[in-house]
This record gives sequence, C-alpha cells and structure tokens, in this order.
Amino acid sequence: MFAFKLLSALSSAALLVSAATLSSRKDSHGNGKECCEISKDTMDLPPDQTALVAPTTDPLFVMLGVGIQNYTCSSTTSTYASIGAVASLFDISCLEKSDFAEVQTKAFKTWSKASAKTKATSIGATVGAPNLLGFHYFVTSPSGTGLSPKWDFTSTGKFAGNATAFVLAAKVGDMAAPTNPAVNVDWLALNNVQGALASKVFRIDTVGGQPPSSCVPGSAPISVKYTSKYFLF
Ligand SMILES: *[C@@H]1O[C@H](CO)[C@@H](O)[C@H](O)[C@H]1NC(C)=O
Ligand SMILES: *[C@@H]1O[C@H](CO)[C@@H](O)[C@H](O)[C@H]1NC(C)=O
Repeated sequence: MFAFKLLSALSSAALLVSAATLSSRKDSHGNGKECCEISKDTMDLPPDQTALVAPTTDPLFVMLGVGIQNYTCSSTTSTYASIGAVASLFDISCLEKSDFAEVQTKAFKTWSKASAKTKATSIGATVGAPNLLGFHYFVTSPSGTGLSPKWDFTSTGKFAGNATAFVLAAKVGDMAAPTNPAVNVDWLALNNVQGALASKVFRIDTVGGQPPSSCVPGSAPISVKYTSKYFLF
C-alpha cells in the first residue's frame, strides 16, 4: 500500500521527465528511438566466481538504477533484514564507453548528497541518462508469502500502457560486491517468474545500499541510498 502510493507519485513526476527526453532523443538520433545499440554492452563479471553467469545473447536493456534499499531491525539477531527497495531505471545504452563504465559512481555522488525532497527520477539527467524506462520495486510474491522484486516499464517510457511490459523475478545467483562489500550491496542474477519484458535480470556495479552491521532492536526501519547497473536479457 505504502509502496503503491510512492510509485504513483514517482510515475506522475516521471511523465514530465519522459516527455522532455523523448523530444531531445528525436533530435539527437533522428528517428525517435529511445535506446541505442547495446549488443556491445557486456557485463564486467569477476572471473573467479560462478554465481553470476552472463547469458550468451545480447542484452535487451541496460539501465542505471537509482533508489533506496529498505531494512528493518530484527530483534532476534540485532541486524538489519531487507524489506524491499524502490528505484528509478534509466536507459544508459547511449552513453559513451567511459561514461557507461562510471555512470553508477557519478550518479551515487549526486544521489547521496541530494536533499530529502530530491526524487530519484531526477538523477539520470545529471549523468547524461535522462531517459526513464521504468521502476524497480517489490510486490507480494505470486505464492502469497514474502516479497518479489519487479522491474516495471508499464507506466513510463516507450512501453507505457503495455500491461505485460514488466518482469517479476526470483533470485538464482548472489555474490558479494567485488569492492567494499560492507558498503555496496550484492551483485545478483534473477530469473523471470512473470511478465514479458525479459527472461533474466542482473544487478551489478553496485554502489551503496548496505545497512549498518548491527542495530538496536525496536529501532525504526531505515532506507539506504544505492545505485547500480541492471542488465535485462
Ligand atoms: C521504503 O522506505 C521509504 C521511506 O524511506 C518508503 O517511502 C517506501 O515506501 C519504502 N518501500 C518499501 C518497498 O518498503
Ligand atoms: C508489450 O511489451 C512486451 C514486453 O516488452 C512486448 O514483448 C510486446 O511486444 C509489447 N506489446 C505491444 C503491443 O507493444
């Protein structure tokens, strides 16, 4: 319910953003296409692990995620447990190679310093990626128990109004971030459970998002800002 309200607020802000970006993309690409060629965009996965296996097919979407990870304090372990996340997803297919490599780091610098009223939907434009493709958030799992992550393009961008343009997924692979894993959330591989948007989702190149290592039982839930790349196949 809470998440749903936030999402509708995000969506109305997003409509304004996407109207502006569509026209500028038309100018720069001549044909109004929202995404550039992405077959050369590969995931830079560490070689010494087997948790995340890159598909051999080309990605369908490459995106910058800007948002928050939410946690609640477990009174039994005095550590934070994940209770979902909310993020805006920006197309990064048109970025030059060096900008593409660094986009999550640059975006995090802006996002981490931003005031409480700054919306995640405004961050893409600050790193040359104004095209908002959709939102990432959590919904009740299809089984009726627990939460499932969803990547949803149905309310903004070129798939707006297309009811199947989402992917609800389940985690199949998880590795600690290769650098600073106490600060940067894990890299993940997920497989499609519902939706027509993609069959696989990867979260890589994470910056931030980890909670403090312990908490005081009874303390309020927290939100920790993060950025990452999302690859959809
Ligand atoms: C996460 O926390 C924020 C407040 O910081 C709240 O607005 C949002 O609805 C929460 N989302 C989820 C999925 O828990
Ligand atoms: C709706 O979105 C899905 C997933 O991206 C796509 O496969 C399908 O072709 C779209 N349908 C229409 C009518 O555009």
